[in-house]
Amino acid sequence: MSRNTSQWRAKPDLPPTHYADPGIYSDPALFAEEKEKIFKKVWWLAAHESELPNTGDFRTYQHPGDARLVMVRGDDRKIRTFYNVCPHRGNLLVYTPTGNAKRMTCIFHQWSFSLAGDCVSIPRGKEGYQDRLCESDVALKEVRTEIGYGGFVWVNLDDNAPSLASEIGAALDCMLPELEAEPMETLWYYQARLKTNYKLIHDTNSEFYHDYLHIYNRLTGMLNPATGYFSRKCVGFPGGHVSVGSMNVDYAAYKSSGRATLGWPKLPDNGWKLVDLFPCITFNLRTSVLRIDSYIPLAADDVLYEFRVLGLKSDTPEMRRQREKDSAVIWGPFGRNLHEDLLASSGQGIAMAQGSEPMHVLQAREEKATIHDEIGMRHYLAEWSRRMGRSSADPYATERVAARAA
Ligand SMILES: [Fe+2]
Repeated sequence: MSRNTSQWRAKPDLPPTHYADPGIYSDPALFAEEKEKIFKKVWWLAAHESELPNTGDFRTYQHPGDARLVMVRGDDRKIRTFYNVCPHRGNLLVYTPTGNAKRMTCIFHQWSFSLAGDCVSIPRGKEGYQDRLCESDVALKEVRTEIGYGGFVWVNLDDNAPSLASEIGAALDCMLPELEAEPMETLWYYQARLKTNYKLIHDTNSEFYHDYLHIYNRLTGMLNPATGYFSRKCVGFPGGHVSVGSMNVDYAAYKSSGRATLGWPKLPDNGWKLVDLFPCITFNLRTSVLRIDSYIPLAADDVLYEFRVLGLKSDTPEMRRQREKDSAVIWGPFGRNLHEDLLASSGQGIAMAQGSEPMHVLQAREEKATIHDEIGMRHYLAEWSRRMGRSSADPYATERVAARAA
């Protein structure tokens, strides 16, 4: 029977870990708090080193903590990251998203900076500043940068944050042999802009109950007990990260795939490994390609979704074409799987937009931590709750108590 308002709003008979308040997916005030308590404190995967192969190569990055950054490979081959701002008058220093430069020179007054962030030229400096300020008194602000887990470039705005390795912990261990088997190279990079909340994208990547959404997954053996699908285990790691155990995928069952058996070094034939890192990164190794999702929260209902598809540096042109094809069938602009995911995440963004009817968003399936158990989402929201100091089921408890006292 359908529900009236009080029935619809009644709390479900479930522990608070098993449902969420939709405000966590739409409230701009909570989003502003997430920036301070989460986004500015964690490591973000901002690029792959193959995207900056030469000295002077640069690439800009929109950090969700409101920081515009620029990564650049220096004369010493090291990749450094800086705030993309001129310390003179606060102008954007680098306007183009990628390129190669010997120096970074501000268009405004031509203050110029080396690839290591040192100021190397101030036009008419002596005339204007006399001995009060010179090149060595100013420089770009550097951001902590680490290269790891297969050559990815990670950045952290917090100078005092724990190291990348301590934040990831053992979460990527199951994929490390494949990530470090051979030097990788980004084959494709593209973006999507979604009117939804970043956590809903993470949820879609971490829960597999929605394989009912995907025709490709249904045809290639998902939901078929004989493939080992239902014994795939979800494993939670400290910090909100989750990995999903491998399975054997029957690609031949999907007529459009026409897939060759290229595979990936150290990945079992037709294997599939997936790791979701808190708060916004997914490593997805399947067929012959590694897909990296990095979903950058821009607002409570706005996400810049970055996709990378990687192959191997040693690939022949034929191998590269095969990896591109394997990827395109599932995840490319005309593939199936990815776009079905984006449709569902966007639909959630629409239906649970700010001001919509309150509800209880369920993550209550329990199946001994196997593939259709929603333990991954619960694990993620437990970390969110810990960092925010708020329950994801009842995020406004503090404000309610304060209002009652007033
Ligand atoms: Fe999906």
